[in-house]
Order: sequence, then structure tokens, then C-alpha cells
Amino acid sequence: MYIEFEKELETVKNVDQMTRSTVKELLSGEKVNSEVLLKGWVRTRRGNKNVAFIAVNDGTVIHNIQVVADAEKFPEEVLRDVTTGSSISVRGQLVESMGKGQSVEIQASELEVLGTSDPEDYPLQKKGHSFEFLREIAHLRFRTNTFGAVFRIRHALSFAIHNYFNEKGFFYLHTPIITASDAEGAGAMFRVTTLDLDNIPRDDRKKIEFGQDFFGRSTNLTVSGQLEGELGALALSSIYTFGPTFRAENSNTPRHVAEFWMIEPEMAFYDIHDNMDLAEDFLKYLVRYAMEHCADDLEFLNKMVDKELLERLRFIVSNDFVRMGYTEAVEILEKSGKKFEFPVKWGSDLQAEHERYLVEEEFKKPVILTDYPEEIKSFYMKQNEDGKTVRAMDVLFPKIGEIIGGSQREEDYDKLVQRMRSMDVPEEELWWYLDTRRFGTVEHSGFGLGFERLLMFVTGMSNIRDVIPFPRTPKNAEF
Ligand code: 4AD
Ligand code: MG
Repeated sequence: MYIEFEKELETVKNVDQMTRSTVKELLSGEKVNSEVLLKGWVRTRRGNKNVAFIAVNDGTVIHNIQVVADAEKFPEEVLRDVTTGSSISVRGQLVESMGKGQSVEIQASELEVLGTSDPEDYPLQKKGHSFEFLREIAHLRFRTNTFGAVFRIRHALSFAIHNYFNEKGFFYLHTPIITASDAEGAGAMFRVTTLDLDNIPRDDRKKIEFGQDFFGRSTNLTVSGQLEGELGALALSSIYTFGPTFRAENSNTPRHVAEFWMIEPEMAFYDIHDNMDLAEDFLKYLVRYAMEHCADDLEFLNKMVDKELLERLRFIVSNDFVRMGYTEAVEILEKSGKKFEFPVKWGSDLQAEHERYLVEEEFKKPVILTDYPEEIKSFYMKQNEDGKTVRAMDVLFPKIGEIIGGSQREEDYDKLVQRMRSMDVPEEELWWYLDTRRFGTVEHSGFGLGFERLLMFVTGMSNIRDVIPFPRTPKNAEF
């Protein structure tokens, strides 16, 4: 009795509130020849006075589904509002399509405009806007094919990152966003404070009294989760972080943003070679994952944004990365005869132009450079026997330059302290970091992958502002 009643209720519900099917589900064809309910945004409307062909997209896939609406079934007042950008709800029969370019379409029996979009005002009325213009309407650019593809890929790769590490037994560690330390020693940090900026408390010597600030000390947004990540790895063996990081550098380049997402694995009992093996395997896994799971979006980007994209992705997964010392790389650059904007010499930091020369012209493969001069690298990197270089590793990619920066860490307490002193890194503030070298220290390594740089590579987008929903760059935080 009771079960019967429930069943009946279910049928009533089905008729009354049919479940919405996504465009992705509909295009899979599984529901062909049945009644379906679609909701989405109108991309275009074509047709004549007898019939309207409406292309609808709901962001679940790059493709639109075509809705066929006979003019005699729908009053002019309804069809009039079906304009580009409007949102609609359509009920109808999913049928195999006669038209070319689509497998199925919906023969509409009911159509409701959920939200109108005035064609005079809607900024995406026309196609073919520049990426620069779309950045100014970042709140709407999700509705374009390109940005739909980019942000679906961004999701897929986030998921793949967790998948990769989870399968390898790494633990996801949440390191703080507000910190008191400056992990990279770069000095370019955003301050976090609740002090009244119009009335900053100062002592007799005019120094700001951070004792009165929220945390009782000076704090900032993190530039890296590494130092805290090391603490986790030196107990849990292998961890990774995946979170936002902040750098207040005034770099207006296509590869820098002030807020970016970084993935930082950290592994106890790994030396620099294990670290390189992991980085190469990880990057190849992610590229392969995108090729397998985002094929439609990548095909679109290959056609519309970067004609060599798929070829480049295939190339990465099927070739070994070149591994080479910094010193040898500098020799190659010096001998290249190429005119660089910044001259190269041993001891200077490599610029993107140098990195790209090695990758794109010399080797035509990704390159992992190791053993950089200690002067240009952070205090925590393991010192080499030569007394000049450290066990750093940077992974350089075509079109991008540096995609990963990492190193084996200095596990020797005395050497680490001596290096901190020579670099003016305050020991007393990092007593907790040093403690791990006092109690059961072990060989360990890690690296940081810039998530947006990875996305630039995988999507073929040439500006980092176009792979993060709301880019933070100097003088720009509108949305
Ligand atoms: O080389 P970086 O500064 O290394 C670190 O932060 C280390 N603590 C990582 C580690 O060993 N755990 O940054 C790592 C990566 C770079 O290779 C680059 O891909 C990216 O982060 N990155 C940026 N991406 C976008 N905008 C910026 N301003 C970036 N700065 C670094
Ligand atoms: Mg770096």
C-alpha cells in the first residue's frame, strides 16, 4: 500500500518536475527519442518566420545543442525574447538531427525565457572579441567558448593533481595563508594587518608597534607553503599542498600574477634525482590526463587559439626531459651566438629568453636544470661539495620558461644555520624550521609547480591572465 503510494507520488513528480538534463548528457545521445528538459543560455538564434533554430549552451561541454521551435507553437512575444545571452528552459523531444554538425536536437514543445538579455547592451552579442577586451568583462567571459574550455580544463587538472598524489600515498596538507615568515626571502609580500592605517601605533623611535596588531606581530600573505610543508613531510613522509600564494612583485609580464595557485609536494627520503623523476612523471601525467579527459576542449583550443597545441602536448608525454647542470647550460648560451636582451654569464639568474632558447632552439624538449649558483637561490637548498652551487632544480617548458622550481633541502643543521646567517635570514623567527634539523633530520626534497603556468601550457593561452578566473595584477583587482 505504502510503496504503491510512493510510486504514485514519484510519477506525479516526474510529470510535474522533470529533471533537467545537461547539454553534455543530451549530446551523449542516451536519451534520444524521449522527453527531456533543458536549461541554458542562448548562444545564437537563426531561422525564418516558420521556425527558429536556437543554439543553447550550459557550460557543461564546449558544444551547443540545437533547439528547434516551430513558430506556430510559440507566440511571437516568447520568441522575441530568445536572444543571444538570454537564459531559457525548454521541454521537448530529443530526436536525431537531420542538420549537419549535430547528432541530436530538441523539438521544443514548451519554451520559457528565464532571463532576458537586451541585445543592445549584452557585451557578447557579437563573436570574436579580443582576449584583452574579454579581460575587462571577466564576469561574463566564462560564457565564451574559449573561456568555457579553459575553466573546464582548470577544473579537470585540479582534480587530476589530487588524484595523482592520492594514488601515490601523498597527504594533502593545508598550510597557512597568513604567515609570519618569508619562505623565499624575496621580500615581495602583501602585509596582513588590522592596524588603523590612519593612525598607526608607533614607538618612541617611530617604529610601527606590531605588538598591537591582530596577531601581535607583523604578518603577510604566504609566498609559498614549502617551509610548513617540510614540517609535514618530516613526519608523514610525503605531502603536497595546493593553494593560493601571493607575490607583491611589480612584474607586468604574461607569466606573472600577484595571486597564483601552487602545488608543492615535499618528500622525506628523496634526493634531487628522485625529485626530478617525480616532477617529470607528474607533469606527463597531468598532460596525459588533459588529453584523455578534455579532448573536445583541447581540440577547440587547437583550432582557435594555438594550432600546434596538440602536437606540443603529445610531444611532452612521449619524450624524456633533458637534465643538465646550470654551468653547462650557461656555456651553451654563451656559445650560441644569439643576441639576448640580458647577457648571460655564470652567476646570473637565467631570464625567460635564455630558458626558452635552451628548450625551444637548443634541445627542442623540456629541460631540467640543476646545481645553480647559491647566490641566486634560496637559503634552504642543499649545498653542493663545490662550495659554490646548490642542489636546485628548475623545470623549463616550451613557450613558458620556468614551470617548476624546486630543490633538495639542506638537512644539516650547521650548514643551514651558517647559510641563513650569511643571507640575513632571521634564525630566531625560523626556530621551528630549524628544529626539524635538530630532531631526526633526513634527506628530503620538494618542488613547486605554478598551476597557472601549467594551464598556459596545456591550453595554449599565451597570457596568464587568461587561465585564472579573476587575475590579480598590479593596479588591477576589479572583480
Ligand atoms: O620558483 P618558486 O618561487 O619556488 C618556490 O616558491 C618554492 N618554495 C617551491 C618549492 O620548492 N616548494 O615558484 C614555484 C613556481 C614557479 O616555477 C612558477 O611556475 C610559479 O611557481 N610562479 C608563479 N606563477 C605565476 N605568477 C608568479 N608571480 C609566479 N611566481 C612563481
Ligand atoms: Mg623559481
